[in-house]
Amino acid sequence: MKKISIKCAQVVAVTLAALCSPFAAHAAANASAQQPLVAHGEYLARAGDCIACHTSQGGKPFAGGLKFDTPIGAIYSTNITPDRNTGIGTWTFEQFDRAVRAGVRPNGDTLYPAMPYPSYARLSEPDMRALYAYFTQGVTPLQQQNRPVDIVWPLSMRWPLGFWRQLFAPEQKPFDATRYADPVIAHGAYLVQGLGHCGACHTPRAKTMQELALTDLGGNDYLAGGGPIDGWVPSSLRGNPRTGLGTWSEADIVQFLKTGRTQHTAAFGGMTDVVQHSAQHVSDDDLTAMARYLKTLPSNDPKETPYAYDDSAARALRTGDASAPGAAVYRDNCMACHRSDGRGYTRVFPALGGNPVVQGNDATSLIHVLLAGSTLEGTKTAPSSITMPPFGWRLSDQEVADVANFVRTSWGNTGSKVTATDVAQVRKTVPAHAPELPPASALERR
Ligand code: HEC
Ligand code: HEC
Ligand code: HEC
Repeated sequence: MKKISIKCAQVVAVTLAALCSPFAAHAAANASAQQPLVAHGEYLARAGDCIACHTSQGGKPFAGGLKFDTPIGAIYSTNITPDRNTGIGTWTFEQFDRAVRAGVRPNGDTLYPAMPYPSYARLSEPDMRALYAYFTQGVTPLQQQNRPVDIVWPLSMRWPLGFWRQLFAPEQKPFDATRYADPVIAHGAYLVQGLGHCGACHTPRAKTMQELALTDLGGNDYLAGGGPIDGWVPSSLRGNPRTGLGTWSEADIVQFLKTGRTQHTAAFGGMTDVVQHSAQHVSDDDLTAMARYLKTLPSNDPKETPYAYDDSAARALRTGDASAPGAAVYRDNCMACHRSDGRGYTRVFPALGGNPVVQGNDATSLIHVLLAGSTLEGTKTAPSSITMPPFGWRLSDQEVADVANFVRTSWGNTGSKVTATDVAQVRKTVPAHAPELPPASALERR
């Protein structure tokens, strides 16, 4: 008996091995055939900036848990690693696709539109397959339970989101490239409107939270500048000469996306993260396509005059005349870096003359950067990091308003008036701290 059973086991083992090995070989061949697909998916995940939202502060990549405040309470991004218990490890392609492009979970629940599925709806199926390959085979599975929403019942019920989705999220249909003048612009439109989800920040939203336009077909509100996010205003990406990208060349836009800076401006606020996590990893060809597409979007304000440099403020400052309101504050606090002519130093200190951020209708970003300062981190191709010191700890609301108005009306700029009350509003939301002294200056003081 014993012998037979051993023999039997051997036979089973041999048969199994024989049966399995072609499978194993097939699986291995399949995995290596998948490699380019996984790599392409990784590239697309970067272009879509999935990591920025699906990673909590200091947390593991793609394990979720980042908090999003909504008007009715907080929600948290989810674990999109291939962990079988807490992530998407058991999801089929169809389930993954439905969540990303249509905003519907496998159980039928609608996702909060903090997940930009209304933009991702434009992705092609081959791109979705590449993303699926990456998220199921290229990402390390991590066990981390999703956090439930911090919203009280009955507002926490998800069915109203389903109505929202039906009203405001676009029907999924293939991206129509034929609408665009050339294939490069069409490709740029696909990236900007879809994966790049630029409109999620840069397009104004209605009271009901949907973006006023999801593509250029939706009219002049598309990418016309969004509401403040964490106190930073995403400016217009249309051709407006003063408040948009009217004076930027295609190369300026590419350089900004790649390095967070141009000859004249520097990224800050939410845009720094976009550059760090996403845009700097996007290929030059894709960035060029995006820039070329953005340059096709006309100004949405015919009354906005072209910017022309005016040197009267610079002349006054140079001759020691600081009698204009805010001029003295500017001379004492800003001039060393941004210069009397408001032109800054190329690629180090941004120019303030002609800068859309300085002239924007909503001055929140300007006030914010004055109060809190900002650091632009280096990127792969522009490794130096540059810092604007905070001034909130030593300038009063009135002084900040004065200097803001000075820069909004000097060197040819035309920005609306900022009041001390506006500054007080922004101050409530940003911590005012003295700058940390670099270690060297601490030594000098001893
Ligand atoms: C702007 C932030 C943001 C970006 C960018 C983003 N997501 Fe999300 N995503 C979320 C949030 C928030 C949720 C959870 C929404 C909810 O609870 O209703 C979510 C949910 C999901 C879900 C559903 C998971 C589940 O367990 O229900 C999937 C799948 C997903 N995202 C994939 C992606 C992929 C792939 C990308 C990149 C192409 C991406 N997300 C980019 C914020 C984002
Ligand atoms: C998470 C929100 C967010 C997303 C997503 C986002 N941006 Fe921005 N962007 C901002 C903010 C905030 C600013 C204003 C700060 C600044 O000028 O750096 C900005 C500024 C810019 C500027 C500089 C404008 C100026 O006048 O100085 C450009 C160009 C730009 N974004 C392009 C893009 C493109 C292209 C995309 C899509 C690939 C995109 N942004 C996606 C938040 C965002
Ligand atoms: C030590 C040099 C320095 C001083 C002093 C300084 N800044 Fe800046 N400023 C910078 C740097 C560097 C940036 C870019 C920061 C970033 O992108 O994160 C910047 C950014 C800005 C911006 C945003 C423009 C853009 O395109 O990014 C404005 C507006 C601004 N500064 C105004 C001022 C004003 C007004 C003062 C005086 C109250 C001042 N700065 C003092 C270095 C300085």
